[in-house]
Amino acid sequence: MRYLFIFLAYLVGSIPFSLILGLIFVKKDVRKEGSGNVGSTNAARVLGYKIGLATLVLDVSKGFIPTYIASLYDPNLAILVGLFAILGHVFPIYLKFRGGKAVATTIGVFLAIFPKGILIALVVFLLIFMLTKYVALASMSMAISLPIIAYSLGSSLNMIYFSLFIAILIVYRHKSNIKNLLTKKEDKFI
Ligand code: G3P
Repeated sequence: MRYLFIFLAYLVGSIPFSLILGLIFVKKDVRKEGSGNVGSTNAARVLGYKIGLATLVLDVSKGFIPTYIASLYDPNLAILVGLFAILGHVFPIYLKFRGGKAVATTIGVFLAIFPKGILIALVVFLLIFMLTKYVALASMSMAISLPIIAYSLGSSLNMIYFSLFIAILIVYRHKSNIKNLLTKKEDKFI
């Protein structure tokens, strides 16, 4: 039963909402323009703000819903379910394992199991975004702040290790953005 739940979370996390919405509503493949990422930032950039916002809500939800349901039974199961929802987004079975950068789905997962932590991390996101206008830099700062917040608030060891792993995953997935930031080629959002 636990393994089935975890597998279902992976399948739900794998759903590429930006790709589906883009193909249906504007007949565009989000992977072929902008940064080529299937996340909500590139969806807004390539497919328009409405589809970008819808992608953000859906990508957050696909992390939140399975993780929240699992958290009603067992906090450790919730962490595993959240992990696999995020891995689904990053390595989706439907897109030959080429997925997104984990940011929105991570927000959904942590809203379900560590709401205080992710809300503080979102303040970090907003501050960095307002100062620099780089979504990627704001996303990485948010991710790096999460394990620090978890540690500072005395969260469980599992939560600290989980948030540390996700921070490393998110920074790793932004390697092209890091390269662009260093060479001043990264696009500002506004
Ligand atoms: O959500 C991913 C964001 O941090 C960067 O996206 O498309 O600018 O590489 P993108």
